[in-house]
Amino acid sequence: MALGGPGYRGGRVSGERDPDFERLSCSLDQDREIFHCDVWNSLVHVLALWEAGALDGGVAGSLAEGLLEILREGPDGLPEEAEDVHEAIEVRLRDLVGEEAGWLQLGRSRNDQVATSVRIRLRERLADVVLELLRLGEALVARGRELAGVRLAGYTHLRRAQPCSLGFWLTSYVPEVVRGARALLRVPGLEECPLGCSAFSGSTVRVDRHREATLLGFRRPARHCGEATGLRGPLLEALGRLATVASGLTRLASDLVQLASDDVGVVEPPDELSSTSSVMPHKKNPDALELARAELSVVSGVKGLGDGVHGKLPLFYNRDLQVLNGLVWDALDRFELSVRVLRKVVEGMEVDEERAEGTLKGSHAVAVDLAEFLADVGGLTFREAHRVVGRVSARLDREGVPMTREHAGRVAEELRREGVDVDEEELREVLDPGRAVRRPVEGSTDPDRLGPALRRLEGELRGVRRALDDRAGRWRRALRATEVALGRLGVEGFAEEYERYWRPGA
Ligand code: ARG
Repeated sequence: MALGGPGYRGGRVSGERDPDFERLSCSLDQDREIFHCDVWNSLVHVLALWEAGALDGGVAGSLAEGLLEILREGPDGLPEEAEDVHEAIEVRLRDLVGEEAGWLQLGRSRNDQVATSVRIRLRERLADVVLELLRLGEALVARGRELAGVRLAGYTHLRRAQPCSLGFWLTSYVPEVVRGARALLRVPGLEECPLGCSAFSGSTVRVDRHREATLLGFRRPARHCGEATGLRGPLLEALGRLATVASGLTRLASDLVQLASDDVGVVEPPDELSSTSSVMPHKKNPDALELARAELSVVSGVKGLGDGVHGKLPLFYNRDLQVLNGLVWDALDRFELSVRVLRKVVEGMEVDEERAEGTLKGSHAVAVDLAEFLADVGGLTFREAHRVVGRVSARLDREGVPMTREHAGRVAEELRREGVDVDEEELREVLDPGRAVRRPVEGSTDPDRLGPALRRLEGELRGVRRALDDRAGRWRRALRATEVALGRLGVEGFAEEYERYWRPGA
């Protein structure tokens, strides 16, 4: 058969494909993502065939040499008329080594092949994403510590609610970032290798699936070939876990947009992460945050798209699953970029302490403190105190008087109208936001309590980093082990070549 043409046709189906079907069918673009994983996959498959006695050393060596050459050439060296990366590699291999390339797919189907390459690439991409999340977590902790003493009003329902520190506010997201990073590192199923399952029920070629799994950096072979080739649980799980973190982080983006607004004005994103208007020359807009917010929203929606493509498919493999792969790479691209941008804003933004304090000066944000004080020393139940302070707040609000230290006299007067007599000196202290933030419960906004909480969170971030290093170590050992095994066929230089595409622990 002529070289360079599609490799699979000319048997059961022949002739040219309809051009529209060709476009619909071709996954070469999205497959660039898995190119290097797929070559590794093929090298290990060749080794397994050789070790099983299905190929002699001469053929195995020449296939392996050709595959390594393909890795050197990169995805741009592949023929463009193939259906997908698997076919393209086989066709290119035939260019390089001749008809012996026809042995490559013995005992393997594109079904176990693509499932394997996608799991490898997904674990690589997730490792990168986890690293980005750790960096964001670290940046939030660092700024949180620096801003633990900057007081402002925190909001519920976008109404000024209680005093807190800006450091407290920002670091609210850290536990979620830690949990997300940890979860993305442990997506169930990603440690199980589909290779050797063939189309779905196994093959007659006795390859050692444990050996294949180890060489490809998995913990074990997938225990059920039908699942490994026909379902995509690990991909959907990864999308679900990404969605949870993404939706949390859209809120961080929103908070920063709000804090940067003209009306609040507590933070100022750096110019390099801001835009201006084409008509209003005075505008400095937080576009980076808004775009990150939208991209992260898309990411949380992809889980639903993935379920839509995957759900209700009959067993086993269906071509629909190809579309799912593309969704995953797209979601990872959006997620990684957005998290990086958010982190840069957090690191680079300036903070206006006076404007922050100002949000308290004009507000009634210490009202709970006052009610708790009345319940404590004034002999009222909390519910009574809550009503009294509520009425006082309503009257002061009508006159535009803030419930602050400076207006303690007015507050005392209003309380007397409610039949509650308090010592004005004591009242002044209760209305002091500096005292109010010193809330004596664990996890509160009290700077003395935030410090230890941040140390614990930092410890957790370090723990995830260690777990990531641990896995990177295994992946590195797997690359070396493949290299050693190929050395027995006289093929050298694989690991270095692979690491041009992705390096574990970089
Ligand atoms: N490009 C295909 C995918 O991503 C590879 C598997 C094709 N398998 C098949 N039976 N047509 O799913």
